[in-house]
Amino acid sequence: MKHFVYFSSSASTSPGFRTENLMKAGRMDIAIHVLINTFFISRQIREDVKLHLIFYGMPDPPKHIEITLKQNSGIEKEEDSLDVSKKDVAGLIKRALRGYKKEEKREVLPGIFVEKKSLLKVIEELSKKNDIFILDKKGEDLRKAKISENCVFVLGDHDGLPKKELKRLRKKFLSTSVGPKIYFASQIISILNNELDRRNI
Ligand SMILES: C[S@@+](CC[C@H](N)C(=O)[O-])C[C@H]1O[C@@H](n2cnc3c(N)ncnc32)[C@H](O)[C@@H]1O
Repeated sequence: MKHFVYFSSSASTSPGFRTENLMKAGRMDIAIHVLINTFFISRQIREDVKLHLIFYGMPDPPKHIEITLKQNSGIEKEEDSLDVSKKDVAGLIKRALRGYKKEEKREVLPGIFVEKKSLLKVIEELSKKNDIFILDKKGEDLRKAKISENCVFVLGDHDGLPKKELKRLRKKFLSTSVGPKIYFASQIISILNNELDRRNI
């Protein structure tokens, strides 16, 4: 299984955020673009990838929302349609946050879990069975990286990964770069998906 971990220092941890202004919900718009680029391609949903959204925004951080999607999972606008809107995705995130129960990893919808867990703890757990890659402009070239089927790619929001955590992660895991420019998090997801597609991973 491939995993993407997206960290947001500000995304709302309350289901009450307003879908009319996703930027003001702690840049929930970025998390939504990340989700769309993780799972949706033309006329197909990627079923072999897991997305971990880690939100550190108010009022109840940290929240870890783990998502796998299946065709016709209900997120698309209509049955048999593969169109998805930002509003649909915002609704999904709201349902996940609303379903949170203290001290539980809870499956709130099929394939969608929510729990309270920090970025480092999520990565530590994933590292037991997977190779971890920290997305960093200064890292080693992705095109030269050896990537196995059990891979985890960790990336940050518009402010990047938090400094203290990044320092620890850089010491423990490989940093990988997709090129000399700084890309949006959602663009990084598309580049990674493309690289993995080309390698048949
Ligand atoms: C919009 S960027 C963050 C920009 C932030 N100001 C910074 O300098 O870290 C979002 C995330 O994408 C990843 N990223 C952006 N450009 C990259 C590149 N060229 N190679 C690898 N990762 C990159 C990093 O993980 C970053 O945290």
